[in-house]
Amino acid sequence: MKATATANANIALTKYWGKRDKKLMLPNNGSVSMTVDGMHTKTTVEFSPSYEKDIFIINGKEIGEGNAYDKTVKHLDLIREKAGIREKAKVMTENNFPTAAGLASSASGFAAITLAASKAAGMNLDKRELSIIARRGSGSASRSIEGGFVEWQKGEKEDGSDSYGVQIAPPDHWGFRMIAVITSTAQKKVKSTAGMAQTVDTCPYYKDWLATVQGDIDAVKQGIADKDFTRVGSTAEYNALKMHATMITTKPPIIYWNDATMRIMHSVMGWRDSGLESYFTMDAGPQVKIMCLEKDVGEITKRLKDIEGIEDVVLCKPGEAARLVDDHLF
Ligand code: PMV
Repeated sequence: MKATATANANIALTKYWGKRDKKLMLPNNGSVSMTVDGMHTKTTVEFSPSYEKDIFIINGKEIGEGNAYDKTVKHLDLIREKAGIREKAKVMTENNFPTAAGLASSASGFAAITLAASKAAGMNLDKRELSIIARRGSGSASRSIEGGFVEWQKGEKEDGSDSYGVQIAPPDHWGFRMIAVITSTAQKKVKSTAGMAQTVDTCPYYKDWLATVQGDIDAVKQGIADKDFTRVGSTAEYNALKMHATMITTKPPIIYWNDATMRIMHSVMGWRDSGLESYFTMDAGPQVKIMCLEKDVGEITKRLKDIEGIEDVVLCKPGEAARLVDDHLF
């Protein structure tokens, strides 16, 4: 009863921000993302009567209590319930990028544990079922089960059975690229769950944001279908700025950006004005993800070297779906 899975992170082109059901993790709005090959999680899960409690090891360090441990146990409980088993589990997980710094570690993490644990519990679930379970751990994880370009359908049903990720284009669809620019590896102060709840409760513009989201989703989907980089990039950038506008105007304000974040945003706008077409997007953290075409990756990477405050740069192509692998972590 041991299985190992890998899953890629994903970066939203149109963002999810706010839940209509906190327990079932049902979003107020749909979203579209790209699964990224440069940032992934590998997780091994073993259920066994020999474990007296769930054991959780992340990047070589055992986490025995706290928020991350509780969320993992809750997720294992969901899978145990579905599989009809009671054994405790050992979970070992490794990220190849900083955890909880606004870099979608929860998306790849919950996608990987969902696939590994469901298999280790004796189930062979399809992608729809996996996405629905992954969603319960972290909303954005529903999009990391699939590869390439993915839409998380908001769904209408109260039980969440129609709220999951569907692929809209495969990884090799076109030369769309993301360059993840890391400006700080510190853990973020306000996690996305708390940040979005506070925004829904206190931002006076939240309903205005919601009113514009479907238009952005339609534009990005059409842009992907037409391989229209300008349409996808410009819509995604504006969508991210609108989401950040709602965060900035909560009480108290949530400003995830640092000086380097701002410098990169201004640089991207400047490059664009001078003919190097690229766009930026940011999530619940200070990292900037630059969207560009494959042909411009080299030039942009070169220009980033001159910007102060950059800790790391990760080049990302559209990545594959979550999958089971044979080499276990223990
Ligand atoms: O599902 P979470 O808790 O990782 O929230 C994701 C929120 C954003 O990254 C800001 C937007 C998104 O759609 O990924």
